[in-house]
Amino acid sequence: MDKKHKTLGEFIIENQSSFQYSSGELSKLINAIRLAAKVVNHEVNKAGLIDILGAAGDTNIQGEDQQKLDVLANEKFIQTLKNREIVCGIASEEEDDFISINSQDEQHQNKYIVLIDPLDGSSNIDVNVSVGTIFSIYRRVTPVGTPVTIEDFLQPGDNQVAAGYIVYGTSTMLVYTTGDGVNGFTLNPAIGTFYLSHPNMQFPETGKIYSVNEGNYIHFPQGVKDYIKYCQQEEGDRPYTSRYIGSLVSDFHRNMIKGGIYMYPKSSKASEGKLRLLYECNPMAFLAEQANGKASDGKGRIMELKPTELHQRVPFFCGSTKMVEKAEEFIANAL
Ligand code: AHG
Ligand code: MN
Ligand code: MN
Ligand code: MN
Repeated sequence: MDKKHKTLGEFIIENQSSFQYSSGELSKLINAIRLAAKVVNHEVNKAGLIDILGAAGDTNIQGEDQQKLDVLANEKFIQTLKNREIVCGIASEEEDDFISINSQDEQHQNKYIVLIDPLDGSSNIDVNVSVGTIFSIYRRVTPVGTPVTIEDFLQPGDNQVAAGYIVYGTSTMLVYTTGDGVNGFTLNPAIGTFYLSHPNMQFPETGKIYSVNEGNYIHFPQGVKDYIKYCQQEEGDRPYTSRYIGSLVSDFHRNMIKGGIYMYPKSSKASEGKLRLLYECNPMAFLAEQANGKASDGKGRIMELKPTELHQRVPFFCGSTKMVEKAEEFIANAL
């Protein structure tokens, strides 16, 4: 890339003073995430090779390969953050409970906690389709100097100080917000550097793409069925286009660039839907709102929900503001 593209490292330093709590710690943490992203990217890129070897040798572990990559991404991310001694706690989709972290010289002096979905869309790994990583950062609410507790992790999304994702697509991108807009950085794999390629990302106010697993259609609530029918109706700029990758990160990323709505509703099979409030919905909601979009559970703002458990699931409607509002309208009308 040429000189006009800022590196992520340069961007972090330049924007450090605009952080709400400008101690430099959040910058260090974003730097640690940047490093973790590169480490996980390296593992994800090798997965194709491992799959080829696995498919040739042993058909019994096809399903387990994906699980191994979930676990590997989880380990790499947690290890990288632990090594930087910058967070006091981590919670992950792949861990039963949260992890409390002591720094070596001082006990529990770090202020930040991180929640991660280390590998999002992992069912896409063995077919070489885009996957991602999602992260969400909060300041602890319990006193510094004591071990973190569950209370530190069960904060509403509105308390997030930063959130973002890495999409391992045709190129690898890191997209994040610290509450001052959304910026996207593309990795130049030859030199291992992220460059600011997508400054100030914004959802178009409306769009023509709806993303939902329509295989579950008959199990959806009536309001969601009605909205899907509306998307398919021949009128004005409709029918919309249906696009569903099955990786939240990739579906969100496309919709943010092109305009669209992503939906994972509750259903008669899954009373709270599938997506996890803390690792998936809150960080994506923060990004969406920072990019002029909207994120809802069908009734109200995702980020106002008070979490009650780590692995809590929640219905999720996210994307271009007008489209999410329309979906909410159909849901309300069907009640
Ligand atoms: P994960 O791979 O982290 O478990 O997340 C998968 C999620 C999300 O990325 C995706 O949009 C959704 O599950 C797909 O679910 P369905 O296969 O039920 O459509
Ligand atoms: Mn996920
Ligand atoms: Mn995952
Ligand atoms: Mn999973």
